[in-house]
Amino acid sequence: MSKTILIATDKPFAKEAVDLMKAIVEKTPGFEIKLLEKYTEQSQLVEAAKEADAMIIRSDKATKEVIDAGDRLKVIVRAGAGYDNIDLEAATAKGVVAMNTPGQNSNAVAELAIGMMIYMARGKFNGKSGTELKGKTLGIHAYGNVGKYVAAIAKGFGMDIYAFDPFLKDEDISKDGVKVVHSAEELYSKCQYISLHIPANEKTKNSIHKGLLMSMPKGAVLVNTARKEVVCEEGLKIVLEEREDFRYLSDIAPGCAAELEEKFSDRVLFTPKKMGAQTAEANINAGIAAVEQIIAYFGNGDITFKVNN
Ligand code: 3PG
Repeated sequence: MSKTILIATDKPFAKEAVDLMKAIVEKTPGFEIKLLEKYTEQSQLVEAAKEADAMIIRSDKATKEVIDAGDRLKVIVRAGAGYDNIDLEAATAKGVVAMNTPGQNSNAVAELAIGMMIYMARGKFNGKSGTELKGKTLGIHAYGNVGKYVAAIAKGFGMDIYAFDPFLKDEDISKDGVKVVHSAEELYSKCQYISLHIPANEKTKNSIHKGLLMSMPKGAVLVNTARKEVVCEEGLKIVLEEREDFRYLSDIAPGCAAELEEKFSDRVLFTPKKMGAQTAEANINAGIAAVEQIIAYFGNGDITFKVNN
């Protein structure tokens, strides 16, 4: 019996990406693809998981219920970077391998971060005089795949770039012409623009707090293309109240979005759905990588991109 790869995406991949994923599977004997797109209820995902040997998801929630429903399920690939949407413990307990596809959508996210900076610097294109990115300080909080692309693009704009990443050696950052700092406090107090690229986990949730944001120089702009949960919303509200110069851009609205949009409409911007990886290129890269990783896993046990224990 052939193995079913379920592509379960509430926010679908571009059609070209799905076609290319299907084409790979069609020429690989022993596999077939099923598609569940734009589903509206989590129960549909649970139901679909029952028939899957492998699943490819984006920000879709691979909860314990979903994982436990998959009697034949052996592998879940998050086509993207962050895997905070997979219940890793449930996966491990059931012997399901969880993987991501690091780097495949990073350029798309970096371009969005820079695009958001320009949009805000130009007053959301309101016709009034704005500012430029050239010569401004940019702090990259976590220098991973996306952070590196942000730095490379920002260099072209003539920004003065700093980065903080406790998991890297100084030379891993400085070789790119980026200045290294050794604490979040130092990064935020130095940089007018901060681009966030930390994952969401128990340590990082709410870690971007009022103190850090208040320490940013005049004209502060926080750009969040990581996860909304890492920014402390109570602190953020106070900072927006107390600092008329402070602006916040987030790729996906925080819980208090309606209140912030009403009070500070000129100084906040939220995407309705996560847009960072919403490009044909990112979908193609991440989608193909996901299919290939699944085929390699069943073919020769390849677990290069495994993220659970
Ligand atoms: C990621 O973690 O890869 C990004 O946040 C993209 O998420 P998405 O695939 O849901 O757009």
